[in-house]
Amino acid sequence: MHEKFRFRNSDELLQKACQLSLNLPFSDDISPLFYPVNIGERIISNRFVVQPMEGYDSEPDGSPSDLTTRRYLRYAAGGSGIIWFEAIAVTPEGRSNPRQLMINTKNCERYKKLVENIRLKSPLNAQPFIVAQLTHSGRYSRPEGQPMPLVPCNHPLLDKGNEKILSDDDLVRIQDYFIASAKLAHEAGFDAVDIKACHGYLIHELLFSFRRENSIYGGPEPVKRFRFLLETIDRVKEEVPDIMVTTRLNISDIYPGGFSTTPDGKNYDLGEALMLIGELEKRGLKILNTTMGSPYFNPHVVRPYDNPLPGASKPAEHPLQGVVRMIEGTSIVQHAFSGLMVVGSAYSWLRQFALNTGAAVIKSGGATFIGFGRNSFAYPEMPRDTMTKGYPESSKFCITCSGCSRLMKNFRPAGCVIHDREIYGNELKKLIDDGKKNS
Ligand SMILES: Cc1cc2nc3c(=O)[nH]c(=O)nc-3n(C[C@H](O)[C@H](O)[C@H](O)COP(=O)(O)O)c2cc1C
Ligand code: SF4
Repeated sequence: MHEKFRFRNSDELLQKACQLSLNLPFSDDISPLFYPVNIGERIISNRFVVQPMEGYDSEPDGSPSDLTTRRYLRYAAGGSGIIWFEAIAVTPEGRSNPRQLMINTKNCERYKKLVENIRLKSPLNAQPFIVAQLTHSGRYSRPEGQPMPLVPCNHPLLDKGNEKILSDDDLVRIQDYFIASAKLAHEAGFDAVDIKACHGYLIHELLFSFRRENSIYGGPEPVKRFRFLLETIDRVKEEVPDIMVTTRLNISDIYPGGFSTTPDGKNYDLGEALMLIGELEKRGLKILNTTMGSPYFNPHVVRPYDNPLPGASKPAEHPLQGVVRMIEGTSIVQHAFSGLMVVGSAYSWLRQFALNTGAAVIKSGGATFIGFGRNSFAYPEMPRDTMTKGYPESSKFCITCSGCSRLMKNFRPAGCVIHDREIYGNELKKLIDDGKKNS
């Protein structure tokens, strides 16, 4: 069932979708990707989003390094309407790795400089909206490289046996770190903060902490499980009123016992996700970034790919099923909340045809923005090329080989091993050579 992308033209791709009984939106007219749109008072000149992509390349204190700066200036020159920064930890114990970005009072100036330089490097007619993704890695915290899992409650499918359960007092303290980081993000000049609630990290896990007992932040009732996220958003609005607040939300986990998923874990059941998004809308949220799945548990759901990581088995489903699942789930959200601007995800597997699909999705009201994760590593200037030349260069697109994820997983700076070879191809080579030496 799993298959690599070998389609020579759009007819072959659409034929495959048809064979799989999938409805893949497609339009030859890609102009909807260049319809301007307002976020608050800001006019955003196109619908492309650089999705958050961790690069495992911060300085030890969490500030952006030269390599981090290089990545973001490439995004800036590429002309995307929104640059959504990768995960930035709010506290050392919530870092997913020792080189995850982290903002604090000592390094805030470094972020300010980077944000200023992004604005300078961006085309004058495509000034990006810049979002800081604030995170606590919860179950996947590895501040020194070793797992130090901090969880809201045990989970039979996800536990490894070494989890520490966070008390309500711990959570209140962590919430204070989110607020302090939001203040710093405002000082640094970001336009918005994303209170990250996806991919199995702490705030996302709280949303399905059904087994948490004697707590105001979990248990069977959704109102308790949603409380931490909603309270954090309320506090940002109250305590940092001059920055916009948003969230990147898992609208479904697609595994048994996960958030907004059918009991067999095979499909989304958006009931709870829609209930939560209704609460976000009531709070005046303007923009929402949607995703699904877990990079640790079902990575093909988060990022459909051709090649799994070495040693991992091929997923049972076709990558196009993953792409369409994300498009359809996002479209349900966007149609239910037309006042919200929803960012769609997981387009990179489609290569150059992602533009045709993205344009069709926007035209039909299935999303407001189209996000690119891996393809932003591979081909950051794709929006600019499309704008200036009228078409992108198909040879520069991401080929979903999982090379960047492999680097990340092995604690190496992550980027495109295929199209940014001098740096990241070399990183991969060193990783392979080290593996041979140690075997
Ligand atoms: C190396 C790597 C790092 C990522 N880092 C983040 C991150 O920091 N925050 C986040 O929300 N998603 C992260 N993601 C997920 C992407 O934002 C995106 O959802 C996913 O790659 C699917 O989109 P694509 O098909 O355009 O790549 C990461 C993915 C990869 C491969
Ligand atoms: S290494 Fe490059 S081509 Fe491979 S998945 Fe990552 S971005 Fe795409």
